[in-house]
Order: sequence, then structure tokens, then C-alpha cells
Amino acid sequence: MAVRQFDKTDDSETIVVLDFGAQYSQLIARRVREVGVRTLIVPSEDPEGLNVKNLRGIILSGGPTSVYDEGAPQLQESITSLGVPILGICYGMQLLSHALGGTVKPSDDREFGPARAKVVGPKHDIFCDVPNEHDVWMSHGDVVTSVPDGFRVIAETPTSPIAAIANDSGIVAFQFHPEVRHTHYGNELLRNFAIGLCGCRGDWKPQSILNRRVGQIRKQVGPSRVICGLSGGVDSSVTAALVERAIGDRLTAIFIDTGLLRANEVAEVQEAFRSGFDMQLVTVDASQEFMDALSGIVDPEEKRKIIGERFVRVFEREARKIKDATFLAQGTIYPDVIESGGLHGSAAVIKSHHNVGGLPEDVQFELVEPLRELFKDEVRALGKELGLPSELVWRQPFPGPGLAVRIMGEITPDKVSLLQHADLVLRTEIEAAGLQDHPSQYFAVLPDVRTVGVMGDGRAYGQLLGIRAVTTDDFMTADWARIPYDVLGHISSRIVNEVKDITRVVYDITPKPPGTIEWE
Ligand code: XMP
Repeated sequence: MAVRQFDKTDDSETIVVLDFGAQYSQLIARRVREVGVRTLIVPSEDPEGLNVKNLRGIILSGGPTSVYDEGAPQLQESITSLGVPILGICYGMQLLSHALGGTVKPSDDREFGPARAKVVGPKHDIFCDVPNEHDVWMSHGDVVTSVPDGFRVIAETPTSPIAAIANDSGIVAFQFHPEVRHTHYGNELLRNFAIGLCGCRGDWKPQSILNRRVGQIRKQVGPSRVICGLSGGVDSSVTAALVERAIGDRLTAIFIDTGLLRANEVAEVQEAFRSGFDMQLVTVDASQEFMDALSGIVDPEEKRKIIGERFVRVFEREARKIKDATFLAQGTIYPDVIESGGLHGSAAVIKSHHNVGGLPEDVQFELVEPLRELFKDEVRALGKELGLPSELVWRQPFPGPGLAVRIMGEITPDKVSLLQHADLVLRTEIEAAGLQDHPSQYFAVLPDVRTVGVMGDGRAYGQLLGIRAVTTDDFMTADWARIPYDVLGHISSRIVNEVKDITRVVYDITPKPPGTIEWE
């Protein structure tokens, strides 16, 4: 089934972010959604990108090029005749100026960092509720040196006399970046654009998203049965809860216990979906099968491959038992669509990269992907709206291959239970510590290193345990979490005292890059 680039039947008020290769496009889209307006990110060269049912505005993103570079993305001038407001950001402002008759020049200094913007002339509505002087974030090489006919300068900074421009037909442009937090009134600026200038109602909220998705799922699947794989992660849990809201017990959720899950995880997932949900939940204990397949394997990539293949096989076997299922629901979210190329209208991309939940290419099901247009924070908000327990909604990411990537060397049932125990102590203590700067992901690792210790009166030769805790926004880069020493000390002493065979605990202080978050 070909994947739609986006849902062209959705009549929600929509602002399109035309992406000129900016590193911040997703951020722009998320920030505008925070003010309650649906946004779609569309590649600048996509002629179909503006074919949206209820287009209310267009944002031209920044980009790495100069308007004068050979092959630099250009503005389709026709967009100015669509009759919707346009906001140009950085490269977007330069493009607008260049295309509409202004001049753009390389500046003597590349400006990168904070600047103080000052509103000039009659205060434009885009600055409603924004002080006349405010801090903004600059990151650009080129500058606009003369504005196109019909435009006026509406803000300046000490180094950019033309820091923001506007005309009377709803086009506004900023040299600075309203989407980054360093621009202190960025939210107000984006709200003034989306709500003030574009006239959106701001009703893209969890409740309305939920109602729309439920309607769409009912329409798509009709009277059929749907299956979905449940992993215990946020995306698959919210997908299951949403589909269940739409079709009740015609959803069968398959939860595979690989034997590589965290302590109590199977019980927690079952508990979460047992009460208050009508779906059929099938839990498959395949732990022995996984353990047998992994016996004697030490190579990390081979372990991953075996787990992935075994997972698919078990899922297929169970799915075949559900006779009348024609649809498969999966928790693809917007960043998966953008990053896997689906945005560019390519064929169906099963959510398989990096993910053991992935299914074979020849699945005979039609896909239901109700989270395709949502960012992670929106998925969580939807989960809350659907009544999922907060432990599930706020669950930290857990890799598809599970504890296997946290046990170096051969995986054995003893090592798995040792790690489950140590990891449970770690999680309990981190959660109890109520850290203000709560780590984004934290777990224990068993590096397969034996080390000496003193236990009671004798020397003990036990195992080394690693602790990994990171803070990150996107999991692509991360820093090690500054957990207070006394919390670390308490965790270490509990683990050494309570988890049999662990004689030493170390804390991983490697940022990513160069390290990765997982150890294997
Ligand atoms: P790394 O180790 O690549 O991890 O820095 C980044 C994020 O991805 C998770 N991760 C995985 N998730 N299958 C998954 O589904 C995997 O094989 C896998 N490896 C890493 C990791 O937990 C972190 O959140």
C-alpha cells in the first residue's frame, strides 16, 4: 500500500512548513502545534505539498544555503497568490526578499547567537504581547540589505538593521529564529502568526485529535478485525488504546514476552490494558524460544538479528491464528515518517529500522497508522486523554532487542534475571530521588566483566555492573546525567548489597557522541 504523504482529507486548519533543508523544521512544526494548530512539514520542491484541504498559512523555513548558491532552493512565487499569510524565517526571509525584488547580500560576519531586537515603526500585530525590545536568536550568513516594494522594516538589531519585515498582504519575515527557546518571545510570535494573522482557532488539541482519529479509523477499517503488536512502549500502547476506542473488541493486541523485558514489565502492560479496555490481549510467552536461539551467541549484531527474526516469526505465527484480521495497526509517528523518507511520498515503510517490532515486507495486512502525523509529545498527550496510566505514557524508551543489548557476551537466563534485579533497584531509586533534572533514559548494564570484592570476611569474585543515565531531547545526542553523588552512592550500595553476585558498580560518564546510549 502506498503511504500517503499526509492525510489530504483532513479538514483541520493547517499551516504548512515548507522545508528548505533547515535543521529546525521539526522544531518550527512542533512549536506551532503547541499553540493548537496542525502543521505539516513539506519539502520545498514538492509541488503537491500545498495541496492541503484547509490551508491557513505557510511558513518558509531556514536553510543552509545562500539564495545565490547554484542549485539553491527557490521560492515558487505562486505561493504569494494563494491568499494565505506567509512567515519567512531566516533563509525564508532571504528567499522572499530575493524573489519579490529586494536585495540579499552575504554579511561581513556570520551572525550566530543572541541579539537584542527592537520593534521599529508602527508596532506590527506580529509583536502583540511582545515587548518593544526582546532577545532573539540569530544564525545566518546572508542578510537582506533592501526590502522589496510594499514591505517595511518592523524590527532591527544592532547588527541587522533589517531584522524583520512585513507587507500589508499578510507576509511577515524574521531574520532570527522564533522557534528556538533562546528567542524569548518565540511562542508569542508564532502564536501571533498562527492565531492572529492566519486566523486559526487553535483547536488542534488532544481531545479533537482523538475524535478525528477515531472517526478515521472507523472509516478505514469498517467492520474488519485489526491486530497490533504491543511492546509496552508509548507508541504501540497509544495506538492500541486509540484503535480500541474506535472498534472495541475487534482489536486483538499481541504482546510477545521475549524474556528480555524489564522486571515486572509483562505484568504492568497486562494490568494497564486489562481494566477499562475491551480489546483482546494475547500475551505470548516466547522466552524459552528466544533464549534457545541466543544460546552461545556473543556477537552484538548477530544477537540483534536473531532477536529481530525470531520476533517476526512469533508474531506471524500468532497473527495467523487470528483468522479474520485484515488490518495491522502500528505506532509509526511523525518523526519516523519524516526520517524514513515517507514524507517524500515513497512506498510504505514498515516501522522496522532499529526496531524489533518491525514486520516482514510481505505482510498481507493493510496498515492502520493513526499516529502518523503526531510528534512524541502529542502521542503522550493523546495517551493521557485515552486514560492510559502515567507510568506507560511517560515510559522511557526501551530498545526493541530489550535487555539483550545491555548484556555483553552470551545471554543466559541467570544474567537476564541479575540485570532485571539491578535495573529495578536503579529505576526505583532514581524515581524516588525526585531529581529536578530527571534523566531521559537510565538503565543498568552487565558488561560481562568479573571483578574482585570483599564480601563479609572473604574475597569475592563477582560481576561488574554499569549504570547509564542520560539527558537528551532527541536521543540523537545526549549528555550523561549529573545525578547527585549521594543518590549514586545509595544506588551502588543497594545493588551491591541486594543483587547477588554484583561486586562493583561503575557510572558511565560518556556523552553521545562519541559514545552511544546503549552499550551494545
Ligand atoms: P543509541 O545506543 O543508538 O540509542 O545511542 C539511541 C536510542 O535508541 C535506542 N536503541 C534502540 N531501540 N532497537 C530499538 O528499538 C535497537 O536496536 C536500539 N538500539 C538503541 C536506545 O535505547 C536509545 O533510546
